[in-house]
Amino acid sequence: METQQESTAAGRKRRRRGGAGKRQKASSSAQQAPPPASPSDAPSQPEKRRRKAGEAAAIPKGRKPTSLLEKMRARLAGGHFRMLNEKLYTCSGQDAFDYFKSEPKLFDVYHAGYQEQMSQWPEKPVNVIINWLKSHNKSWTVADFGCGNAAVAKNVKNKVFSIDLVSDDPSVISCDMAHTPLEPSSVDVAIFCLSLMGTNFPSYLQEANRVLKPSGWLLIAEVRSRLDPNTGGADPDKFAEAISQLGFSLVSKDMNNKMFVLFYFKKKEKIKVVENIDWPQLKPCLYKRR
Ligand SMILES: C[S@@+](CC[C@H](N)C(=O)[O-])C[C@H]1O[C@@H](n2cnc3c(N)ncnc32)[C@H](O)[C@@H]1O
Repeated sequence: METQQESTAAGRKRRRRGGAGKRQKASSSAQQAPPPASPSDAPSQPEKRRRKAGEAAAIPKGRKPTSLLEKMRARLAGGHFRMLNEKLYTCSGQDAFDYFKSEPKLFDVYHAGYQEQMSQWPEKPVNVIINWLKSHNKSWTVADFGCGNAAVAKNVKNKVFSIDLVSDDPSVISCDMAHTPLEPSSVDVAIFCLSLMGTNFPSYLQEANRVLKPSGWLLIAEVRSRLDPNTGGADPDKFAEAISQLGFSLVSKDMNNKMFVLFYFKKKEKIKVVENIDWPQLKPCLYKRR
């Protein structure tokens, strides 16, 4: 019979053997990774930036991490994404801009994690918005506030101003969206797709109001839990009321989706300025560890 000491020593040896075996397996599977076979397999620009910065390599879309190393990397990347996501929801747009400007690679880390989260949603709000745009006037000019990977611009015929904090896509306007370089009354549609993140989110809507033409459309998709009083979220009617006071009429709202709500507003022709709008607080949307 093994004594407790022997069993601990044997256990240590077993663990050492097991550990080394696993390490070997992980590194050999990494060595066996096939080299890029075609230009489409070559690392993307964000991937190159991540690798240069020593970040975890992205696991190809749709494939679950298999080796221990991949699982650890995925866990680290997930933690990093959740930290950045919380940062975006709990600071002002200006602070977020300064933060991401000083470390642009973080933007890629955030977006890799965000796309991973979105892949679990049965329907993406950005696709609903793209379909809406496709069924309306193609000559309308669009401003996509907090465009992320600029999916709107890539999928519609309209002229789209894509706006975000940072991007390696030169077509994206890099700024804090509370202060864009767009001309007053110059766009027909303003979009906020899950992008009212900063603590000063009303200033983003004021900016949209400034750049929208009279009768222009304001489309807002937000995470459902942020606008569901049953889960500690804001009252959607109060949210819509505050936006009406800013100078918009609510045309319709779509509460059918389990994950997000979608509001369609139109800018009023004549705006009666309301001082001290009573904006509801929007709680951060924090993703759970999977
Ligand atoms: C949750 S993502 C959504 C991206 C995209 N709209 C979509 O639906 O796929 C929110 C985006 O808003 C951007 N964002 C947040 N605050 C911003 C600000 N103050 N100025 C510019 N972009 C901002 C973030 O960088 C991020 O890319």
